Amino acid sequence: MAQSEWVGERSRRWLAGLSVREAQLAPVSLPLFAAAGLGPGERVLDVGCGPGTTTEPAFRAVQPGGRVTGMDVAPEMIDAARDRFAGLDIDWLVGDAVSTPLPEAAYDVVLSRFGVMFFSDPLAAFGRLAAATRPGGRLCAAAWRRRPESPFFAVPYAAVLSDLRRGGADVVEPDPDGSSFSLGATDPASALLMAAGWSDVTWEARDDRLYVGGPGSVADAAAAAVEVGSTFTLLEDRTDEERRSALIALEQALEPWFDGRGVALPGGFWVVSARRSP
Ligand SMILES: C[S@@+](CC[C@H](N)C(=O)[O-])C[C@H]1O[C@@H](n2cnc3c(N)ncnc32)[C@H](O)[C@@H]1O
Repeated sequence: MAQSEWVGERSRRWLAGLSVREAQLAPVSLPLFAAAGLGPGERVLDVGCGPGTTTEPAFRAVQPGGRVTGMDVAPEMIDAARDRFAGLDIDWLVGDAVSTPLPEAAYDVVLSRFGVMFFSDPLAAFGRLAAATRPGGRLCAAAWRRRPESPFFAVPYAAVLSDLRRGGADVVEPDPDGSSFSLGATDPASALLMAAGWSDVTWEARDDRLYVGGPGSVADAAAAAVEVGSTFTLLEDRTDEERRSALIALEQALEPWFDGRGVALPGGFWVVSARRSP
């Protein structure tokens, strides 16, 4: 099996900009944790936990008596999580959800904030996660909607794409349903989850405003927007001039969304909930 794209450079880039990402994604945790409804004594698996930002509040939510495992395919992420939350009795696991053996029916809840869209074999991964959850247990995850339905991605993407095309660049567009957006279309994603052993699948559409790059100036937001996702892909391997021009176009596109604190775009994400089939 090919190694995940998250192992190495992509995770290092994520960790280098950690304070920005935390500020950006914090509003996602509110509806995610509300839907998960964690309680004392529960056993939780946080999948694709990254540097443990949601693992730590999950741990606190299940005390007394609960246990939490944070699992991630990237050793860099788990090292960072261990360092950040060294004083807490959280289990950390480096492993690919597609292939890592997990104990059977050992968890009440599988939780994830944007960590379940990158599986090389989604059916195998969601099947393993279902088998690791007790019958009746819950899956609760945040996942991006399709790129055109997520202004957080679509606005910067459209600005950069049209600027590149205006300049005569040859652009092959990345798949609007690929990578981060692989669970964006709910019909196929529900069918996938049900085939993997989950039932009662529901999708809550969220448009909470997220600050691009966290609170800051329009220039900060533009600089952050070109570091991630499809906008990053569009600008990979471009000339300095193309990048400079794209940044100017991006700032113009983001300016109307500046609310005095930062550039706040509707997030356009799902909170998906499901139950482990009996
Ligand atoms: C967008 S980041 C989210 C990190 C974290 N949940 C957060 O909200 O800050 C996606 C995470 O999923 C992890 N990931 C990707 N594919 C995975 C897989 N197959 N198994 C486990 N973790 C995976 C990545 O290494 C990365 O840490």
